[in-house]
Amino acid sequence: MAVDLLLGLQWGDEGKGKIVDVLTSSYDIIARFQGGPNAGHTLEFEGNKHVLHTIPSGIFHPKATNLIGNGVVIDPVIFMKEIENLAPYDIDFNTKLLISKKAHLILPTHRLLDAASEAAKGKAKIGSTLKGIGPTYMDKTGRNGIRVGDILAPNWEDKYRRLTQKHLDMLNSYNVEIEYDLKDLETTFFRSVEALRKFKLVDSEQYLMKAQKSGKKILAEGAQGSLLDIDFGTYPFVTSSTTTAAGACTGLGVAPNQIKDVFGIFKAYATRVGSGPFPTELFDDDGAKMAKIGNEFGATTGRARRCGWIDLVALKYCIQINGVTQLMMMKGDVLSGFETIKVCTAYQTDQGVMEYLPYDIASENIKPLYEELPGWKEDLTQITDLDDFPVNFKNYITYLENALETPIKIVSVGPDRKQTLFR
Ligand code: GDP
Ligand code: IMO
Ligand code: MG
Repeated sequence: MAVDLLLGLQWGDEGKGKIVDVLTSSYDIIARFQGGPNAGHTLEFEGNKHVLHTIPSGIFHPKATNLIGNGVVIDPVIFMKEIENLAPYDIDFNTKLLISKKAHLILPTHRLLDAASEAAKGKAKIGSTLKGIGPTYMDKTGRNGIRVGDILAPNWEDKYRRLTQKHLDMLNSYNVEIEYDLKDLETTFFRSVEALRKFKLVDSEQYLMKAQKSGKKILAEGAQGSLLDIDFGTYPFVTSSTTTAAGACTGLGVAPNQIKDVFGIFKAYATRVGSGPFPTELFDDDGAKMAKIGNEFGATTGRARRCGWIDLVALKYCIQINGVTQLMMMKGDVLSGFETIKVCTAYQTDQGVMEYLPYDIASENIKPLYEELPGWKEDLTQITDLDDFPVNFKNYITYLENALETPIKIVSVGPDRKQTLFR
């Protein structure tokens, strides 16, 4: 078994990028399996901060090969911007970055459709990142999509024109005003497609099969989080891909029996960006404090993230759905200075106390039931030895480990690579 998975257990932004970067030295290949530029994965090292959207988070390591899998949707314009941002690092993309020919392309009109769909929903909008994710996956499953491999064919523009015309007709059917200059969007798009064509476009499942046979170690990098999964998340306030472990099988062509460890990553509290239910959301000073200390602003859209206490009902569900073998706890440092730490252990609903996620947590009248643990005052960000953690922080970790019945193997106490402790 050569493949490990790393995925988010909440509503995204758990710190996946940071930990993939930290773990990359133990792997030969880092492979993104779903999502697209709706993701923003932040890495910090040597005083620099980087946000990656499409490119896997192993890209800064000298040896690892980074692969964008078939399950990913790629916006050539955003992809090329990411490549430009990496220019100072002298990365040899020809050897270090592979792109699946089966990955689907986000067209300019997919973004317009995303905007129109959201505008038409009004107050009920999903709060999408407006990157065209939903419409692109709809074309994929509707069997109309354009794949990266298609741009190698001489007549691919015909296909593009046909699909774009269809999108424009659809746009007209929405009763909303969207301003755009398609010519302008297309100029940038086609320039970026030309540039994309020069990258290593591969049959990625074949590449990965060979890599597994020759004993290479592969880490699959998830985007978003399990509560945004198209099937198991808080539907319809979800993204349009399988963010859970099964997504790595379909998004890379890896067989289930090749998967060894599933690393589940979570924040010591909870956040959500965009609309949708969030039972433990705080609207008081505690929530504002988490947002401020945790610098909770979306890495892709800059929107403020909603904050709340950790939700063990949701976490337990996500651990099971994914078959998590090891946990990683992020941002414990943000909770320093709270008198008490609250942990949601069940929901009070109209049907009584529930310890599992109801069918539709949006319409249920849910009140989170909390247990309270004593907080700690000490700053955690400079701690490099687990023994030096304040006793109440140690107790919080042990409490969570027992409640979740899964070992917490990494504790992160700051955004930098170095602020990572292994247990
Ligand atoms: P991702 O989408 O899961 O990769 O996470 P994001 O990069 O969107 O959001 C995580 C944010 O928290 C980023 O700004 C990280 O730099 C930061 N971060 C990661 N780990 C820690 C931590 O342990 N403590 C603090 N204070 N910040 C962290
Ligand atoms: P990373 O990988 C947090 C949210 C959006 C919106 C919903 C649907 O950085 O953790 P979409 O654009 O996918 O149609 O939006 O999903 N969302 C994320 N929230 N982190 C992300 O990615 C997200 N990607 C999408 O805010 O609520
Ligand atoms: Mg993010």
